[in-house]
Amino acid sequence: PYCFAKNGIIDSSAAHIHPMDISLIRGYGIFDFFRTSNYVPLFLSDYLDRFIRSAAKTHLNLQFSKPELAEIIKELIQKNNLENGGIRMLLTGGVSENHFSPSDGQLFIFCEDLLFPSQEKYEKGVKLLSVEHVRAIADIKTTNYAYPVWLSTDWKAKSAEDVIYHFNEMISESSRSNIFIIKEGKISTPNQHILHGITRMRVLELAPETEIRPISFEELLSADEIFITSTTKKILPITLVDDHKIGTGQVGSITKKLMADFVEMEK
Ligand code: PDD
Repeated sequence: PYCFAKNGIIDSSAAHIHPMDISLIRGYGIFDFFRTSNYVPLFLSDYLDRFIRSAAKTHLNLQFSKPELAEIIKELIQKNNLENGGIRMLLTGGVSENHFSPSDGQLFIFCEDLLFPSQEKYEKGVKLLSVEHVRAIADIKTTNYAYPVWLSTDWKAKSAEDVIYHFNEMISESSRSNIFIIKEGKISTPNQHILHGITRMRVLELAPETEIRPISFEELLSADEIFITSTTKKILPITLVDDHKIGTGQVGSITKKLMADFVEMEK
């Protein structure tokens, strides 16, 4: 496979990162992740905007414009014959003298296989484990996921799919997904301490009446339906939070409708 590294498209095996890059030693870098559907990079413009915004907010120098990035991605999809796959853009924090300050980083763009949850999970819903935590600089897609990677051993042992973060009784998001709740037909999603997900944005277009507001952990537990959204999960129903059953414990009708509408939107 081919990737973008060293300012050009090269064989992936020739891509290297310096061991002292602060992405590695401090977790300081940014990335973004999107996918192709039938060779088309879905919602590309939104992902590129977010990546460019993340670079600016982290004071990292992205030396490529939006049209240049789009061109590189187009070429990579062609060269890798990427019909349905993932594309990861990574801008590292760079190597600096004090091993701490951001410097000129490296841009990598590489293609990956996609791994969606099983059909059974979409049909029956999955469990989230609640964890008291709030992400720092949550709206920037930084490379720092040390905490959820560490948590994952625990949530897997408890047969959960992922976590739901809450802090001061308010919920924010899952480790790599946004969250929506439905109560008496009304859809709501939190607006604080979250990454502004592109899938979340699409759901807000499908259901423009959604309330974007602070949501408490108590409200989460008393919801009729819950689902999470992300590039790699699409719309995934949640039927358990810890050992608490959500609604009837089955995937709800509004969630099912949005899942179907989203499939149409991807076409
Ligand atoms: N995660 N919140 C966080 C913290 C995320 O890392 C992600 C994406 C999302 C959902 O955003 P989107 O709909 O744009 O994918 C929310 C990616 C998929 C990942 O880290 O694998």
